[in-house]
Amino acid sequence: MIGDTPIPRGKRFTIECAAEGVRVGYPFKREVVIGDFKPSKLDYCDPDAPPPPRRLKGVPVCESVGVTRRPKQKIRFKNDRPSPERPASERPAAPTGSRAEARPAVNYFEVRPANLPPRLDSLKALTKSGVRGYPDVDAAQALLAGVMRKDRVRGDVLDLSAMGGLLGSLPGVTLRAVEGSAAALSALAAGGLDAHAAVPGESLLERWPDRARTVALVLAGDRGNAYAAAQVAWAHACTPPGGTLYIAGDRDKGFDRYVRLAGNAFGAGEVVARDGGMRVAKLIRRPGPTPALPDPEGFEAFGVTVVGLPGVFSAAKPDRATALMLGALERLDPDGSALNGKDVLDLGCGTGLIGAWAARRGATVTLVDGDLPSVRSAQATLAASGLTGAAVHSDVDAALDPAATFDVILTNPPFHVGRGVVLDVAREFIAAATRRLRPGGTLHLVANDFLPYEADLRALGEVRETLREAGFKVLSVTRA
Ligand SMILES: C[S@@+](CC[C@H](N)C(=O)[O-])C[C@H]1O[C@@H](n2cnc3c(N)ncnc32)[C@H](O)[C@@H]1O
Repeated sequence: MIGDTPIPRGKRFTIECAAEGVRVGYPFKREVVIGDFKPSKLDYCDPDAPPPPRRLKGVPVCESVGVTRRPKQKIRFKNDRPSPERPASERPAAPTGSRAEARPAVNYFEVRPANLPPRLDSLKALTKSGVRGYPDVDAAQALLAGVMRKDRVRGDVLDLSAMGGLLGSLPGVTLRAVEGSAAALSALAAGGLDAHAAVPGESLLERWPDRARTVALVLAGDRGNAYAAAQVAWAHACTPPGGTLYIAGDRDKGFDRYVRLAGNAFGAGEVVARDGGMRVAKLIRRPGPTPALPDPEGFEAFGVTVVGLPGVFSAAKPDRATALMLGALERLDPDGSALNGKDVLDLGCGTGLIGAWAARRGATVTLVDGDLPSVRSAQATLAASGLTGAAVHSDVDAALDPAATFDVILTNPPFHVGRGVVLDVAREFIAAATRRLRPGGTLHLVANDFLPYEADLRALGEVRETLREAGFKVLSVTRA
């Protein structure tokens, strides 16, 4: 049992916890992925371990399995649903000479209709792995769509977080869909919507010279304060005086705080809908200055000057796992020559620290990320470090030249998408390595030590554990 919910033995589940500091004891340790709090705070019990303490850091512990009880804590279960096989014709072409995909069972690139809550069944949206909310629509966006339908919003709507285009199916709405996620952009393109890739703060006037009078935004509170503040400033800049902003988000991810921020800039506004933790507020813009965008963060590490734009993973300091991997690779290559002249792919580059580190060691680097702010960050990191390389906005390897292959692939794969926790993207990173590694080439992957990547990696070759430290592991595979 977790709380009041029985867990049938032998079933695979993903457990998502909305509060930090949640402690879960669960017999299917390998199958459990616990989300929405930092991996370093993750804790779980072995089935054979002694019962959990009755109190953990002053928080009462649920007796049966050790789930801490906190106010507002929310625990959701998601069955792990492998999706059907994707026709080979729809996958990125395998470069000549590459092996078959390691794990084609999850049909990562398939775009399909999103599951909608019954109250929205006359609407539609597309989705795919890697889009927020997949395989459902994002809960905040669903509430937003319900409110806008009730308000009978018509005409041009600028959606700054369009995901799979749900708002475009509202009757009488012409959607201007903006997204930074390459996965979402491919869902929008498949739906034939008018989509534009942009990051918070970018002017959209060149794309749409007249401003829409209605703007919609789902706050990504899970991406941190700076990103949410940048989203609010962007929404303000995009809304003409007298225009309306519909803003949705999760109470547990700072919605009230960000709406207060928006309220200061916009003037009149109020929360108009609640559903569980989800909220929608409606604000009318008064004339007045747009709040400033937060400054980029950054740091120096491993000989690289890193620029971290708002919302980019580990923008202010090196991620612990990444630092462990780079430290381990430096120890394996004390004279720093192993990457010289090699073609290196940094898959899921974030700020670009890993790719820039490889470029400093003489590699020709390609940095890929599905998140546009991350791609911009990686470009800025290369420039600030006086290095060159290609930074590509791509859902896994989909936007790379089909013939591109590499000597070395380095990755710290994601296991969160928005509020949810999923391994599909990480598994597709490994599948991409099977498409992109040259014979004799090596993949180095760093992950939390409980994440079950070894079986997928074995399709490439023998898996070596280059490092296991502080709850992380660096796995290395050389392709035969
Ligand atoms: C754990 S972070 C690692 C970032 C960076 N390499 C580092 O070590 O600091 C994972 C990265 O994968 C990116 N990512 C998530 N989904 C992706 C996808 N579908 N395609 C490409 N990159 C993706 C995220 O945007 C994020 O930057």
